[in-house]
Amino acid sequence: MALFGRSKSLVGLDIGTSAVKAVELTRKGDRLVISGIGTAEIQAAEQLPDAVRAALQAGGIRARRCASAVSGRSVIIRQVPMAPMSDGELRQALEYEADKYIPFDVNEVQIDAHRLVTTADSAGQIKVLLVAVKKNLIDDHLAVLRAAGLSPRLVDVDVFALANAFELRNLAMGIEDDGVRALIDIGASKTSLCIMRGSKGLFQREIYLAGNDMTDAVAKRFGEDACDVERMKREPGGALESMQDAILGVIDDLASEIRLSFDYFDNQFEQTVQEAYLSGGSGYLSGLDTLLGQALGLPVRIWDPTEGLEVEGEGSGKLHGANSDLTVALGLASRLRAA
Ligand SMILES: Nc1ncnc2c1ncn2[C@@H]1O[C@H](COP(=O)(O)OP(=O)(O)OP(=O)(O)O)[C@@H](O)[C@H]1O
Ligand SMILES: [Mg+2]
Repeated sequence: MALFGRSKSLVGLDIGTSAVKAVELTRKGDRLVISGIGTAEIQAAEQLPDAVRAALQAGGIRARRCASAVSGRSVIIRQVPMAPMSDGELRQALEYEADKYIPFDVNEVQIDAHRLVTTADSAGQIKVLLVAVKKNLIDDHLAVLRAAGLSPRLVDVDVFALANAFELRNLAMGIEDDGVRALIDIGASKTSLCIMRGSKGLFQREIYLAGNDMTDAVAKRFGEDACDVERMKREPGGALESMQDAILGVIDDLASEIRLSFDYFDNQFEQTVQEAYLSGGSGYLSGLDTLLGQALGLPVRIWDPTEGLEVEGEGSGKLHGANSDLTVALGLASRLRAA
C-alpha cells in the first residue's frame, strides 16, 4: 500500500471523549519502536485542535502523518451473512442491501466491508463485516486534525484499532496461539468490546456504559461534583471501598451487556471466551479488574499495550502507569506496518 509512502514514523491519534492520546511509532530496521507518547485532557469540544497539539507537544512528537479513529453512535458495525461472491459483487450487493442494516440514509454514510469468515457455514453463507460511518462525522474529525496541523492518512474505528494493538503485541512478543480472548476498553463515554481469536478480531461492539457513568454513580453517592470525583477516582485513599461499592451497579450492567455479546459470539462461532484484557483510562480504577472479573465469571487482567515493545529513550518518562489508556492510539500507529 502506498498509503504512507515510505514514511519512517506515524502518529496514532486517539481523540477520546475525555482525553487525547498520541503515540508515535518509528521504523528501525524491521522493528517498530515507540518514539513518543503524549496525552492531554479535553476541556471543551471547541478546543479539540488545542488538545491535539498539546498531546503531540507533551510527547515530543514531530511526525505529522497520522492515523486516527472515530467512534460512537454515528458508526455502525454489523455482521452480515452473505452468499460467497467476488469482491466486486460483494460491494454491489452491500450497496444495494445496506439500508437493511444501517439506521441512516445510505447517502449520508461511507461504507466499508470485509470478509470475517470465508468458509461457508451449513446454510452456505459467509460472514461479512459491514462498517458504515456518517460522512459528517468524518468531515468534522478531519477538520480537527487539519486545524491541529496534522496530515491525516487513515481514519479507522476505535474497536478495530484495539484489535490492531493486540495483534502488534502478539507480534512483538512472538505469541501465536488461537486463544479466544475479549478486549475490553473502558473509556469515559463508552466501552469498546472486541473478541479475538489469536490476533484476529471476530466480534466488535460499543457499549455506552463507562467511566462517566461510574463518576455519576460516585457523585450521587457522596454528593460531590464530577470534578472532585475525577480526582477521587485517581487517588481514592480511604474512600476506595465505598467508591467501589458505589460503582458496583454500573459494573453489573456493563457485565450483563458484555455477557450478552459473549453468548452471541458463542452461538455464532461455537467458541467460548476464556479471559479478558482490560484497558482504557477506566482500567486504572483500583480493583476494577477484580470486580469485573467477578461479575463476568472469568479472569480479567489489566493490559499494558506497550508490553513487549521497545521505547526509544526509555527512562525519559514516556511511559506512564500501565499505559492502559494507550491501546487505541498504539493500534492506530501500528498501521505503519502496512506502509
Ligand atoms: N488514574 C485513573 N484512575 C481511575 N480512573 C481514571 C484514571 N485515569 C483516567 N480515568 C478515567 O478513565 C476515563 C477516561 O479513559 P479514556 O482516556 O480511555 O477515555 P476516552 O478515550 O477519553 O473516552 P471514550 O473512549 O469513551 O471516548 C475517565 O472516565 C476517567 O475518569
Ligand atoms: Mg477511548
